Amino acid sequence: MSELLAWYDRERRDLPWRRTRDPYAILVSEVMLQQTRVEAVIPYYLRFMERFPSCDSLASASLDSVYEMWAGLGYYRRARNLQATAQAVVLAGGFPASLRDLPGVGEYTEAALASIAFGRPAVALDGNALRVWARYFAYEGAVLTTAARRFFVERVLGLIPADRAGDFTQAVMELGARVCLPRQPRCLVCPLQSGCQALARGLTGSIPAPVARARRQKVALCALRIRRGDQVLLERRSGDPFLAGQWVTPWFFEPFAEVGPGYVERFPGSSPRRVGTVSHGVTFRDLTVEVWEWETTRETCEPEQRWAGPDARLPRLASLVLEA
Ligand code: ADE
Repeated sequence: MSELLAWYDRERRDLPWRRTRDPYAILVSEVMLQQTRVEAVIPYYLRFMERFPSCDSLASASLDSVYEMWAGLGYYRRARNLQATAQAVVLAGGFPASLRDLPGVGEYTEAALASIAFGRPAVALDGNALRVWARYFAYEGAVLTTAARRFFVERVLGLIPADRAGDFTQAVMELGARVCLPRQPRCLVCPLQSGCQALARGLTGSIPAPVARARRQKVALCALRIRRGDQVLLERRSGDPFLAGQWVTPWFFEPFAEVGPGYVERFPGSSPRRVGTVSHGVTFRDLTVEVWEWETTRETCEPEQRWAGPDARLPRLASLVLEA
């Protein structure tokens, strides 16, 4: 694996979380990176670390302020879990030896943190790493399975250089992101080419085995842009697990004709007009949102509602509604 590390030393990107060994900072970065691309994470990571520079500061923050710093990154459960992890670390007086005991820390986060922050040998298998190892060992089965994970962990643990466990983890991720690409892997420049069994057997096109994707559900929504000057009405989402707890413009799975009149009555003003539609894909759903707008004369709002100014940080769906 010395070629891999030599390649990493030459080619590694200078990412903000690679300038620290602080386990808290590395935890934040790994949680953000789990479902989000590096380029998208960078500004969020920097803002988040400025606002919550330590486990203590995150643990004692209001959940709303944590959500606010997460707004736009998606998968908001991550933010809630991350705060729960920080609170457990504070209670325990530091990161425990067994990281898996922390709430919100799963198999991947545990291995990433153990290796990158603590230099312990551990195999972190995110999507990129799974692709690298599936090809390296010409693993032809489905990779998103416990059996595949076991197969890789068993074989990779022995490859980790004792003094560079963290760099090894990040080198594999870097390789998956930049060389061992899903469709056109750049095998000619790959530092693992001499040991790669998929390459030797001409299987890089068929490994990893494609994952059968569930059909995406199409969902129609309507959203309300109730304005008061340069402010807009937000509501805290409840009930539906999607965006639960987030501050968003009111939206519904019902058509405007059903839900609009109640709001118009409570927030009277100009007549509502349909300003357009926006599309937004979330985990398993393709949303089409019909946006309705009016200006209200009402000054107050109701519990779990608030008026937000133009610079509020909002989940992506709410931003799209405001831009429609
Ligand atoms: N993806 C997940 N963890 C990462 C890391 N530490 N660096 C780059 N990409 C990553």
